[in-house]
Order: sequence, then structure tokens, then C-alpha cells
Amino acid sequence: MEKELILIIDFGGQYNQLIARRVREQNVYCEVVPYTISIEKIKEKNPKGIIFTGGPSSIYTEDAPKCTEDIFNLNIPILGICYGMQYMAYTLGGQVKRADKREYGQMSVNLDLNSKLFNGLDDKNICLMSHTDYVDSVPQGFMKIANTDTCKIAAMQNEEKGFYGVQFHPEVNHTEKGNIIIRNFVIGICKCSGSWKMDAYAKTTIENLKQKLGDKKAVCALSGGVDSSVAAVLLSKAIGKNLTCIFVDHGLLRKNEVEEVEDIFTNKFDVNFVKVDAKERFLNKLKNVTSPEQKRKIIGEEFIRVFEEEGKKIGSVDYLVQGTIYPDVIESGLGKSSVIKSHHNVGGLPDYVDFKEIVEPLRNLFKDEVRNLGRELGLPDYLVNRQPFPGPGLAIRIIGDITEEKLEILKDADYIFREEVSKNNMEKELSQYFAVLTDTRSVGVMGDERTYDYLIALRAVVTDDFMTAKFAKISYEILEKISQRIVNEVNHVNRIVYDVTSKPPATIEWE
Ligand code: XMP
Repeated sequence: MEKELILIIDFGGQYNQLIARRVREQNVYCEVVPYTISIEKIKEKNPKGIIFTGGPSSIYTEDAPKCTEDIFNLNIPILGICYGMQYMAYTLGGQVKRADKREYGQMSVNLDLNSKLFNGLDDKNICLMSHTDYVDSVPQGFMKIANTDTCKIAAMQNEEKGFYGVQFHPEVNHTEKGNIIIRNFVIGICKCSGSWKMDAYAKTTIENLKQKLGDKKAVCALSGGVDSSVAAVLLSKAIGKNLTCIFVDHGLLRKNEVEEVEDIFTNKFDVNFVKVDAKERFLNKLKNVTSPEQKRKIIGEEFIRVFEEEGKKIGSVDYLVQGTIYPDVIESGLGKSSVIKSHHNVGGLPDYVDFKEIVEPLRNLFKDEVRNLGRELGLPDYLVNRQPFPGPGLAIRIIGDITEEKLEILKDADYIFREEVSKNNMEKELSQYFAVLTDTRSVGVMGDERTYDYLIALRAVVTDDFMTAKFAKISYEILEKISQRIVNEVNHVNRIVYDVTSKPPATIEWE
């Protein structure tokens, strides 16, 4: 079958990978490429459609990103989004102007339902607008197909050529039914069949990894979580025994986790598996450290050092494999957005890393896509559905300094919480749930005795992408049971609270 590709030309917008995800949701394969791509390369790739992303620039600034103008002569449909639409209008002879102030927010957009792009929508649709420049007149051969009260050309088309532009962002959730617009473009206009599946993604990725790594050796930073496990299996399918999975027990893992991970990767998968007992080493480095960012940096750095040491034992190792996924990349501020937390597997890396290269095969995928991929690769459901667990582990769930005593308390409390969630069959409906050991102690009474003990917070959230999340509405009865059990079964805990904040404004983890 002919390979169907949608090429996404990256003009630097913050939602580019989200556009890619939306295209994949239509079961169509896509690639994000820089706007500097040559016309020869585009021809070689032979896409069925092209999407221009948004971007922060104005078309009139000197270094405004512009791709090859020959792209308009390929006879391939193009959808320009935001800056992408302005670039299309400007290049093809329309007028782009600069407004006095930026238009930002959800707006009601009037749509021309005769356009194929808006097939199946209502004539008014709430869309996210975010722009300063705007298209003031469309190029010859184009017509306007949408407007708002303040933006007279909110979308345009040249149906004959298959060129479309939208000033709003169909890829974000803040645009209602944006997925239908993407579908209309890739399936309706570009005539993709929508038959691509994650198994094809797995095959292509494994093939690419095979070519890139050849017979070189790689080590994989395995945490036992979904992301690193999927990355490990991808790599093991690409380079077999040239991959060694290194599992660092930093002493900050949940109760029983070390044993579970060891069991899966020694008994169920045929990989080189090395477990490193590094608990003391990590706890020593973390002694008296209270700052969340410092904890992350220390753990990130120590991880890399352990890997390097283990790597040297294996011989010459060129590649370090990590299970970084797309939300880690944006939240760590490697895109243009500001740093929220430096996730240890991205921004927390020390400057000096003794590997030729870091390989991150999941870097462009969202969590639910990684789970699908894991299933395609034959990973068992219980592993694929595992809730995420942060690289720095329980260190960022103990507020303040970390001691062995606090770790034991938190592990036991967290275990009870997980056990009750499982007993009540709530694992599927909760995206993430865990206990936090706060730095607060409060007065209580047990029997006839006054106590002055720790406060445990329970956190449970529901989310698709972990970039926003709602606190989970667990019933009072279940919370009561969990609270009673923790206070009765775990020493030095006398009070439990439930976190009722969503993200934003809170984050999922407390540190
Ligand atoms: P936040 O707390 O930023 O978490 O709302 C979003 C998701 O990311 C996980 N998380 C991390 N994962 N290294 C990781 O691998 C980290 O440093 C890290 N910090 C947060 C968190 O558990 C949630 O799933």
C-alpha cells in the first residue's frame, strides 16, 4: 500500500506536536519537519498533504521563518494554521496587517458551511484565537470562509488548489470540534485513507533505531514505569542483546516495586538486565536537602553517574536510551514555554554526559499514545496501564528533607492507598494517585495519649495528558476507609487530608 504521509512544516509554534497528535488520531502518519526543509526533500517524502504550523513571529520581521515557495506548486493540499495562514496569504499575494493589540482567547467564529474544511460543523463554533497579525485581504483565487466580530478573515480557502488557512487553532481542546476540522483536511481534502495504526509506528521506529544504532551498544535507563519499559522493548527489538537495561534502585521507589520490576525484566522479557543497589549513595547526597529543584538535579545527576559507571563495565557504550515523552519536554521548558519543573530525565541532566548520544524514541508521543504503542509491542496490560511515577520518585513526595524513617512511613501509607484503590476497582478511572508525606506535624489523640505526628496528604487526579488535571472525586466512604487504615497501620501518622486542587493552579506532584 502507498505510504500516506502528512508533512507538518514547523514554524516554531508551541502546539506543533499537538497538531501531529491530532493527525495521528485520524490514523494518518505524519512527520514534523523544520521550515528550512528543501523542495527536493519534500518531493522525496511525497506527502498527501501539508500543514503549516503557527509560530511566534510576524511575517514582517527580518528573520521571519519562510519555507520554500515552490511548495505551492506541488499540487498538494496545504492547511496553514495561524502564522501558517498568514505566511500563505502573504506569499501568494494577499495582505497581512498588524493589529494594535493581540487577540487572545476563545471566540465564537462564524463558519461558511459550504467549505469542505467545515463539513459536519455548526455555523458558529468556539475557537481559540491567539494572534496579533491578521489577514486583511485574501490572495487571488481565495475566498474568506470564516469571520469573528473582530477578525474579518478568520479562515480562507482556494478550493481548486486545495489551499486552506485558519487563523484559530483547531488542534487545541479550547477549539470545539477542532478534531473534525483536522479530519476534514487529512481525510476529506487530502484523501488519506486513515488506516495507519500504532503497529506501523512501532515498525518504523524499530527500523529507524536499527539503522541509527547499527551494531553499537546502548544502555537503557529503566525505571519500571510505562515510558522507560516501552522504550526498552522498542530498543531491544531493534538491537537485541546490544541493549543493557540498567535499573537503579535509588531507595526512592514504592513498596515492592524493586521486586516487581526485577521479576518482569528477568522472567518475562529477554533483555540484559542489571539492577544497581544505590540507595545509600542517593540518600547521602540528599541529606538535608529541602529544595525540590535541588532534589531533582541531584537525583538526575546521580542517575547519570550510575549509568556511566555501569556502562563502562559493559564496555564501549555509545547510546543512552531514555523514555522521555512529549509532555516532559514541554514542561521542562525545552520548547519556548517557561520552566515549570525540570523533569529529571530532560532538563535535569548534567552538562557533562559520558555518552555519545541520548536516544529518546518516545519524545514526540503523548502518554496515551505510549500506552497504545506498549500494547502493540506486546507488553502486558498491568504494565502498560501502570500509573506514571516520577523519576525522582518518593523524594518529591516527601516535603522537606528525606530520611529513612520518612521513606518507610510514606511507602506504607502509599501502599495502603493503592491497595484500597485496587480493592474498589478504581485503577482505571484514576490517572494517578499517591500519598505525600508533608513536612507538617499536628496534635492528635490515640487511646488516652496525646500524639504529635505527621500529616499525610492523599492526591488522586484524572487527566488525559497530565498537562492539566482534575482532582478525583473519590467517595467519602472510600476516603474514610483509607484514612482509618493509614492512621491505624502506619506509625507516626495521625492525620490525613485529601488534596482538592486541580492542575492548574496546582501541579500533580507536590514538589
Ligand atoms: P506535575 O507535577 O508537573 O506532573 O503536574 C506531571 C506528570 O509528570 C510526572 N513528573 C515527573 N516525571 N520526572 C518524571 O519522569 C520528574 O521529575 C517528574 N516530575 C513530575 C508526574 O508524576 C505527573 O505524572
